[in-house]
Amino acid sequence: MLELKHIGYSVYDENGAELRILNDISLTIPDNKLVVFTGPNGGGKTTLAKIIMGLVQPTAGQILWNGQDVTHLGITERAKLGISYGFQQPPRFKGITVHDLLLLSAGTEKLSKDRCCQYLTKVGLCANDYLDREVDVSLSGGEVKRIEIASILARNSQLMIFDEPEAGIDLWSFARLTETFEQIHRTGSATMIIISHQERIISLADEVIVVGDGSIRHRGSAADILPQILADTLGGCPVLTKGGAAL
Ligand SMILES: Nc1ncnc2c1ncn2[C@@H]1O[C@H](COP(=O)(O)OP(=O)(O)OP(=O)(O)O)[C@@H](O)[C@H]1O
Ligand SMILES: [Mg+2]
Repeated sequence: MLELKHIGYSVYDENGAELRILNDISLTIPDNKLVVFTGPNGGGKTTLAKIIMGLVQPTAGQILWNGQDVTHLGITERAKLGISYGFQQPPRFKGITVHDLLLLSAGTEKLSKDRCCQYLTKVGLCANDYLDREVDVSLSGGEVKRIEIASILARNSQLMIFDEPEAGIDLWSFARLTETFEQIHRTGSATMIIISHQERIISLADEVIVVGDGSIRHRGSAADILPQILADTLGGCPVLTKGGAAL
């Protein structure tokens, strides 16, 4: 179980003025649930995910993972405790092949081609074409994103955080990926936090958390939240509206 208690994150400019990025976020995610974080660009979703992974240190609050206070643990320690995170914009690793990356992720010395193939197929890639490719700039944005997701699946973590897994991914691979999330969810083999703007992914969630302006704006089931999101987005930009009517 993951518990976030009153998480805050602020940065300070050169004059010492505080910019609050996250403000008093508290939530509990029970084991094997699929939770979607959604909300407007710049709302704080990625920062929150990075705080859970230990890539960013919160300036307030506490994080408990399976009852253990992990607030001050780094990424490596949290990874060992079973937490993994897929970047919104994955890094590339010159000199490391897709096969190496899957091996590193799985934490084993050997990984059969069949096993690699299983992970890559889940993201719509063929092992024959990709296993010996380097994870460098020669891969397209969508390919590198899918390879990173495959490496998270290979890690087999208890908590997997995916930051906009749909970004840059074609429709066929997206359908495959959605099936994979559904399957993990159905078998109850891991907890997933998926940051997403996609209705198809939001509709899979046990709980949807709408993060905006650094706070939780709404939370609830997909059936309850989707109509609220649509109503919000139809509200439009306050600068472009006057007296509630769109200009
Ligand atoms: N270190 C920092 N210094 C200044 N501003 C920051 C810093 N980190 C994050 N921010 C700001 O905090 C806000 C939240 O960023 P974050 O990346 O968490 O948003 P997001 O909800 O993931 O957005 P998107 O949907 O575009 O991915 C943004 O306005 C971002 O510019
Ligand atoms: Mg983001």
